[in-house]
Amino acid sequence: MQLIINVNLRRLALALVILMPCAAELKEATLQILRNGENAGSYILQAGDPSLAEWKLPPLNIADQTSADHTQSDALIKLGRALFFDPKLSSDNSRSCASCHRPKLGWSDGRPTAVGLNGQPLDRATPSLYNSAYGTIFTWDGRASSLEEQALGPVYDPSEMGSSADELLTKLRSDEYYRKAFAEVFTEQLITDQFITDQFITEDSISRALASFERTLLVQNTRFDQWVAGDHNALTLSEIRGFGVFLDSERGSCATCHAPPNFTDDGFHNIGLASFSDPDPDLGRYNIRPVKLMRGAFKTPSLRNITLTAPYFHDGSAETLEDVVEHYQQGGVSKGNLSPEMKDIDLNTQDVDDLIAFLRAISITRDDESINMASEQ
Ligand code: HEC
Ligand code: HEC
Repeated sequence: MQLIINVNLRRLALALVILMPCAAELKEATLQILRNGENAGSYILQAGDPSLAEWKLPPLNIADQTSADHTQSDALIKLGRALFFDPKLSSDNSRSCASCHRPKLGWSDGRPTAVGLNGQPLDRATPSLYNSAYGTIFTWDGRASSLEEQALGPVYDPSEMGSSADELLTKLRSDEYYRKAFAEVFTEQLITDQFITDQFITEDSISRALASFERTLLVQNTRFDQWVAGDHNALTLSEIRGFGVFLDSERGSCATCHAPPNFTDDGFHNIGLASFSDPDPDLGRYNIRPVKLMRGAFKTPSLRNITLTAPYFHDGSAETLEDVVEHYQQGGVSKGNLSPEMKDIDLNTQDVDDLIAFLRAISITRDDESINMASEQ
């Protein structure tokens, strides 16, 4: 059986050809996507097919990711980890970055929206930090363009950690561990004037350390990644079909925004969450970039390890992956400023099951060793 469906993957005009397995012994469906135009070629949904290469996360040379004048040494990462887990970064020493970005909850917190210093709920959900090393823009509204730039935001935010530059520097500079650790990491790097003082502990060096640690929070080897790399047994037939749904603009149309290789376009879209109809809705990206299209638009999250970070969306309005898919099935709820890339999708029960199975396959399991390692302090 052969089935031809028109798909629109990002700006490419594509046709999806599904060759259903005709013999019972075939373990994999052969799904073929033909591309027209400039990027002529095809996707063949079979383990290891070269056409899937764009879904492979490129190896990350972490040393290249940091500022031009610093490399990412183990000592810098270790220092960043110590800071990340240290409640001293908050005004009343009650909470660290890890109070909200919890290792075992996919570096998120399992809550609809984050909880502030006094226990009050904040406006937005805590995003996962997985694969932020691949990111180019940060926070739901994209107000930070690097992890370094983002790092002290929560420390100074009165409702998150409530500290100040003075307080932070005073505390860390009077701590023997940090005095020693910062001096060790930064002594060899007396390149900029800023560091030619006896004070190695600066806002800049603290941000660099935190960002360097965050860049080590990677998920690169899910069953999906193993399948892309060529392991035929890594995905089930249902999961492979689910990937087809994810790509197909007549069905999921998910890859338009959750683009290869990190399942995000690092773009901002209004996907029609019900909360956009609130009397005073969170305008998201519009606060930073006031153009109409950006009203109620939020950053597309990456999806690897998505099973660890429920509930979903910036307002925590979807409890489960089933709820997420239901939201897209409806084409969004609040359609006032819906992204033009939100398609009317029509999934049958099988498509929904397959799509959810696929979403689970781009996550490692909770007891995976790397999560436990990351949570050690
Ligand atoms: C009170 C809970 C809380 C604490 C504490 C906290 N965060 Fe966050 N974090 C959040 C929330 C909520 C957001 C989303 C903010 C937004 O988009 O407006 C966020 C966003 C981020 C992002 C952006 C992620 C992305 O993909 O865009 C990074 C990186 C981050 N936090 C790192 C840190 C670091 C480093 C610390 C400690 C210095 C920290 N956070 C402390 C709740 C918290
Ligand atoms: C128009 C672009 C677009 C399309 C199409 C799209 N998404 Fe999204 N997705 C987003 C954005 C943007 C968000 C965050 C929205 C928010 O919270 O306001 C998101 C959030 C999610 C989340 C929650 C992630 C988290 O960490 O909270 C999941 C899961 C998800 N999408 C899966 C899918 C699936 C499955 C499809 C296809 C059925 C799909 N998306 C189609 C842009 C898109």
